[in-house]
Amino acid sequence: MKRILTYGTFDLLHYGHIRLLQRAKALGDYLVVALSTDEFNESKGKKAYHNYETRKKMLEAIRYVDLVIPEECWEQKISDVQKYEIDTVVMGSDWAGSDKFDYLQDYCEVVYLERTAGISTTKIKKDLGLQEPVNGLNQLPETKQERDNDKKN
Ligand code: CTP
Repeated sequence: MKRILTYGTFDLLHYGHIRLLQRAKALGDYLVVALSTDEFNESKGKKAYHNYETRKKMLEAIRYVDLVIPEECWEQKISDVQKYEIDTVVMGSDWAGSDKFDYLQDYCEVVYLERTAGISTTKIKKDLGLQEPVNGLNQLPETKQERDNDKKN
């Protein structure tokens, strides 16, 4: 069983994300996604539109994804590779040559996949005028009442 690991925020899930996950899974048998927590994003000065729980549920609904774990800090990667017995870490080509993943080559294979051209979360937010969530991070409605209200708005 070959085990693959990838990292990201996966906010406003789009075709570039799906293609990355599809190609990552095709490199092995079991795909773990380490998903940036809201706190980790905040420490990087980033704010997702959907909160962690919503982003996690959406990723879990994708057939290529077997497990979603939290990415809470930069330093956890070696321990993730060891804990989940990872053979290959996969990232989009935007991360190639940075010092964020290359050092993992001492612990597992590291593969960079070409980014899908023309799409990113940043672009979607810009095109839709969604630079900042209106009321903090968006989350899934928990009750029927909340869902009905959402539909009306
Ligand atoms: N990715 C990709 N092709 C795209 C966009 C993202 O292959 N067009 C990959 C990234 O390289 C990364 C993973 O998808 O390995 C998750 O990327 P993430 O940063 O969450 O998505 P982006 O759309 O790049 O978000 P942002 O614009 O906020 O950087």
